[in-house]
Amino acid sequence: MPETRGQFSSKLGFILAAAGSAVGLGNVVAFPVMASKNGGAAFLIIYLFFIAFICYPVMMAEIAMGRRTNRNPVGAFSQLSSDHRGWRLAGKLAIITPFMIAVFYTVITVWLVVYMKEIATGGLEMLSSESAFGDIVARPTLFVYLLGLLCVIFCILLGGVKNGIERLARVLMPTLAVMLVSLTLFVLTLDNAVAGIRYYLVPDFSRMDLSVVNGALSQAFFSLSLGMGILITYGSYFSRGDNIPQSTRMVAIADTSIAFFAGLLILPAIFAFDPNTNTDDLSTSSVGLIFSFLPQIFLSMQAAVGYVGASIVAFVFFSLVFFAALTSLVSIIEIPISCWIDELKLSRKRAVLFQAVLLTLFAIPAIVSLGISDFFTNFTSYGGVTKSFFDLVSDVFYETILPFVGFTVCIFCAYRWKMSGLSSELTRGDSDYAGSRLEAYVNFSLSSVIPLVLLLVFISTVIQIYFP
Ligand code: PFF
Repeated sequence: MPETRGQFSSKLGFILAAAGSAVGLGNVVAFPVMASKNGGAAFLIIYLFFIAFICYPVMMAEIAMGRRTNRNPVGAFSQLSSDHRGWRLAGKLAIITPFMIAVFYTVITVWLVVYMKEIATGGLEMLSSESAFGDIVARPTLFVYLLGLLCVIFCILLGGVKNGIERLARVLMPTLAVMLVSLTLFVLTLDNAVAGIRYYLVPDFSRMDLSVVNGALSQAFFSLSLGMGILITYGSYFSRGDNIPQSTRMVAIADTSIAFFAGLLILPAIFAFDPNTNTDDLSTSSVGLIFSFLPQIFLSMQAAVGYVGASIVAFVFFSLVFFAALTSLVSIIEIPISCWIDELKLSRKRAVLFQAVLLTLFAIPAIVSLGISDFFTNFTSYGGVTKSFFDLVSDVFYETILPFVGFTVCIFCAYRWKMSGLSSELTRGDSDYAGSRLEAYVNFSLSSVIPLVLLLVFISTVIQIYFP
């Protein structure tokens, strides 16, 4: 007997799960760093503009495609295009992209687990040394952590949409919010924290230029998990009678609020560590910031709360980042699984096992590419730099391809599925949508400005990374 397709139990279940996917390393680390380097509140203003006027329509379009077809991205593109080969290919891109993002995100999550273990066993001081990160990513014991993490993730995914993904989000998302607010309140009591707040919230428009605007859009897109096939798949688990425009707004607000709070946590912490911090010197990569810089900041808090106190603060912070990463990771690994279930007609159990094997096969070269294996560490070179297998996956699938997938979604909705199809899906569960100003804006922007902007961002990123 065929299994019934998974579904979220309620609108709230969907909102929490989609927010769980959206809230990830992008919010808790990348956003604060970008905001601080690029004019504080000035960056925030453009970021909010992009969330509202560019990302929101794309988000609704992805969710509507999934809900209309009740399928994964390949199924959704092919059903709505009556099996057109080119569009099916676009659907495949929306499966390969999350598949590969999961590979390197898994590796980062493994590092987070190792850091939590080290902090819990008194190793905060060791983690603050300059060579710590390099040593940790080259430890052969990472394999053990990798297998442990994959077992946890795939057990959650075996539970399915309601009992696995949704239940995880119901527990972890509120926990994450409480941890974030408590840590922020604590950091705000430290000396010089106010300098960080001032730095964060006073707009400095002089730093704005085209690359900052480009970065803000890419960050907004990434942060909402767009272009990864996630929202198409989650849309397919969303009940027909529920309101897409309103639920989408809630997810975007939750995601942006967490990013904003993370800034209120990280910048004051940095300024409490060194009131003369020059934010230009902050690491450009999220990875560098979390794993190399933040342990030093936590260690410095021992002057105020002792070594054990500083270790507790660090542990809570790394757990928070780990929870954010785990909910995102579970959401992204679900995308190929839903594809195997729909397209290969596998049972959920078989699809999960199949995906577990595939992910392990790809995660191994990624995890050994930071020193364990020479071959994967010096895997290739482009843009004048030697790149590891990990860098390659991150550059292609994380940094570059998302706006392109977003572009295909817009063009598909506007010119193949047609706006009338999108509108009729968005009107289900929201009778006010038809004829509203929102509908007029979505129809206009998705067929013109948004795809154009996404294409430009894609082209400029390709030039920056591969032909600097
Ligand atoms: N929105 C996520 C973030 O901000 O980190 C993006 C994401 C990345 C989702 C990786 C899922 C994932 F596996």
